[in-house]
Amino acid sequence: MLQFLDVATEAALTGGAILQSYAGQVEAQEKGRPGDLVTAADKAAEVAIVEVIRRHFPDHGILAEESGQVGAAQSEFLWAIDPLDGTTNYAHQYPFYAVSIGLLMDGIPQVGVVFAPFLQELFRAAKGMGATLNRQPIQVSRTAELQQSLLVTGFAYDRHETADNNYAEFCTLTHLTQGVRRGGSAALDLCYVACGRLDGYWERGLSQWDIAAGVVIVEEAGGWVTAYDQSPFVIESGRILATNARIHAALSQTLLQVKPLPANYLLS
Ligand code: IPD
Ligand code: CA
Ligand code: CA
Repeated sequence: MLQFLDVATEAALTGGAILQSYAGQVEAQEKGRPGDLVTAADKAAEVAIVEVIRRHFPDHGILAEESGQVGAAQSEFLWAIDPLDGTTNYAHQYPFYAVSIGLLMDGIPQVGVVFAPFLQELFRAAKGMGATLNRQPIQVSRTAELQQSLLVTGFAYDRHETADNNYAEFCTLTHLTQGVRRGGSAALDLCYVACGRLDGYWERGLSQWDIAAGVVIVEEAGGWVTAYDQSPFVIESGRILATNARIHAALSQTLLQVKPLPANYLLS
């Protein structure tokens, strides 16, 4: 585990340095859906990260956001890499973005490193070894009531195409809590739950590279990660509920009760 953690850290620091070398100097292009951006920095960071992983573990599988499946297809090890989680923030010089590197073994996230290069915060965890922020142990918050909680969520790029776009959940939970943030980086949202700055996080429409690392970091910090209905988390579902454990049941019940907003609620 330690070797995996060290290599993930080397790769994340390498990628983060590349992001900072391009920061404020790159133009973003839409990849497909409105708002789904990519920059030269995403691509350059990914190439460097993949090179580090491949150099140490040539037999492992790699799933990277900009290149897809690039490593060995049959391996029990899969590295899920987001070279820049929070591209919209990055393109606007809003400093909440990170490199996210997770290692799955037989489909289960086991090692996670998330590095926010502008903020100089390095989150790390491996199964059974605890979670750290800049090498200091971290723990989830002790908030026990939704009414006292500060949450975070996000909205996938297909939000214009589906009524299952999380808008109703966002309104409802804004009403029931001290607030709901929209961080713009799923990986960092999870890390902020892990270190107790936020009490809970939910989102749908995610990819494995967004959350593989953060899931391990939350769990190793004492949090819970499940599906919305508290059944076991399945990373391929793209749907996640991650909390400090204490508000988990209440947040789950609320999410299950929310009805989508009427189709004519927003201007088309
Ligand atoms: C996005 C961020 C965002 C989440 C989106 C993701 P990207 O990743 O994690 O917080 O709401 O669903 O796609 O595009 O910045 O790598
Ligand atoms: Ca992402
Ligand atoms: Ca990305």
